[in-house]
Amino acid sequence: MNKNIKWHQTAVTKHDRELLKNHKGLILWFTGLSGSGKSTIANALEKKLYEKKIHTYLLDGDNIRYGINNNLGFSLEDRKENIRRLTEIGKLFVDAGIVVCVASISPFKDDRDAARNKFKDEQFIEIYVKCSIEECEKRDPKGLYKKARTGEIKEFTGVSQQYEEPVNPEIIVDTTNQSLENSVEQIMLFIQKRLHFR
Ligand code: PPS
Repeated sequence: MNKNIKWHQTAVTKHDRELLKNHKGLILWFTGLSGSGKSTIANALEKKLYEKKIHTYLLDGDNIRYGINNNLGFSLEDRKENIRRLTEIGKLFVDAGIVVCVASISPFKDDRDAARNKFKDEQFIEIYVKCSIEECEKRDPKGLYKKARTGEIKEFTGVSQQYEEPVNPEIIVDTTNQSLENSVEQIMLFIQKRLHFR
């Protein structure tokens, strides 16, 4: 980092912004294979939170790759950079007092841990959207597994590149065996305790 730059304190603080919204900022980090249900759950959860007047924003890996991350591919280095940028954007949102959902495969433990380490313990909630590769491949909502099997897509998570399962996530939702409503409810109960809302 350039040593000639200096951090500016702002007159309006994170605490002030949280008071305005009546809740704290938080990051919910959804990780899981392609097709596991990350975006679907994060979307449904965001809707529920909105109905409870919780200020949210969803950073979806796919969507962010349209803009700020449109120069990144799927190599190990690019995925690391993808996660780093999502983390930094997420930090800004949390600082703004927003509950931010990140839905990103984020396949590597080191990258997810690096993200976690940028937040206070109580601010970061890792949610493992667990689903077997067989089930994800059966769903194949975007036809990507098919392309990965024929080699049309390289470095595809779970097929030609690794997915490292979270070791100790705050929440695991098992989308092979539980309904969407059930998964959302499970996460809602967890955040209700953190944010103290009803
Ligand atoms: S990562 O690993 O966190 O950097 O990936 P992410 O930013 O979440 O982007 C994943 C989406 O990109 C599409 N896609 C691929 N995924 C995995 N591997 C390869 N090679 C690949 N190529 C394209 C795919 O739509 C992923 O979205 P989801 O919603 O997970 O299916």
